[in-house]
Amino acid sequence: MITITDDNFSSLNEFLNRKSFSKIFILVDENTHEYCLPTLLGNMETDLEFEIIEIEAGEEMKNIQTASQLWEILTEMQADRKALMINLGGGVITDMGGFVASTYKRGIQFINIPTTLLSMCDASIGGKTGIDLMHYKNMVGTFTFPEQIFVYPKFLETLPFKELRSGFAEMLKHGLIADKLHWENLTKIHKLDAEGIIPHIQTSMDIKQNVVQQDFHEKDIRKTLNFGHTIGHAVESLYLNQKNPILHGEAVAMGMITEAHLSYLEGLISEEDALLIIENIQKYYPYLDISDFNDEDIFNLLLNDKKNADHIILFSLLSGIGSCTFDYKCSQKNISESLKFYRKLNDA
Ligand SMILES: NC(=O)c1ccc[n+]([C@@H]2O[C@H](COP(=O)([O-])OP(=O)(O)OC[C@H]3O[C@@H](n4cnc5c(N)ncnc54)[C@H](O)[C@@H]3O)[C@@H](O)[C@H]2O)c1
Ligand SMILES: [Zn+2]
Repeated sequence: MITITDDNFSSLNEFLNRKSFSKIFILVDENTHEYCLPTLLGNMETDLEFEIIEIEAGEEMKNIQTASQLWEILTEMQADRKALMINLGGGVITDMGGFVASTYKRGIQFINIPTTLLSMCDASIGGKTGIDLMHYKNMVGTFTFPEQIFVYPKFLETLPFKELRSGFAEMLKHGLIADKLHWENLTKIHKLDAEGIIPHIQTSMDIKQNVVQQDFHEKDIRKTLNFGHTIGHAVESLYLNQKNPILHGEAVAMGMITEAHLSYLEGLISEEDALLIIENIQKYYPYLDISDFNDEDIFNLLLNDKKNADHIILFSLLSGIGSCTFDYKCSQKNISESLKFYRKLNDA
């Protein structure tokens, strides 16, 4: 269940006092320790004992070494099976905290309090927990739902602009795949800041939650959440070896532009709709330079995509503004064409 909490965190307090937990463990990174924990602790009203566990910030921490340290800390602090883990942070904290909680002593309860836009609208919802392994993202993990998700949108006020814009890409995606009105409302936001975005968070959370409820194990409709992520992930991976890495949402924005054009080339949407989508995404995201990568680099990664079956590249493509297909096989020619289209946008 997702609850938008008030300034007093009364829904969280009600939850903590209703259940009989033995002890609380709050997982934070250095930034959420500084910017979010004081607000949480200042409002938490419970007699339960609690401990703070802090890790360094960043995706590099989402690995088995950190998970192992967390299991050890829980053991040393004598966390029993009635302990509660509170994951206070972005997707790294909710993914890894959820993974550690869902495996420690075969599973203790945990709740997510997401503090980034990406984690509020995406990562904290849907029950996927996990860590990275070698160079592969989210290779090891579990499907485990948090007991509850408490969202306090004002945490976004301290989030850096680029992180906010990154999470906004997922919101745009939600509108494009499932809700035309949501898309239209989002594209009316002139200045991307917490104030402008907060009124639309609930709709995005509802879309993600609704899709997940219909298809928990990603057999069909959940795949629509991958719109923009096939080409987006490939480019994100290529950027991992570059000096200046990019944020997930920046890669997804690029992916949504190319895949909107691909949807048009495959005859699924009109040229007019494709252009409207592309122009609006370009309003928020600067052109992403992909000149260092050739089509072959991108194709090699596309062929390795987790969603594929029998070495055929499968896409989730738009069938309108607000509707999406999945398991769609595209011709190699059209994929190349859409990359060419993207490259040309730089000259425009
Ligand atoms: N489980 C899922 O379904 C799912 C879905 C999408 C993404 N993810 C995962 O989520 C992760 C990315 O999440 P993210 O973008 O939230 O990254 P993140 O957790 O690294 O947070 C981004 C940065 O913002 C800082 N931060 C967090 N909250 C803050 C606040 N309120 N004020 C100031 N700074 C703050 C963090 O310390 C960090 O430096 C990836 O590991 C990705 O794989 C998971
Ligand atoms: Zn994403």
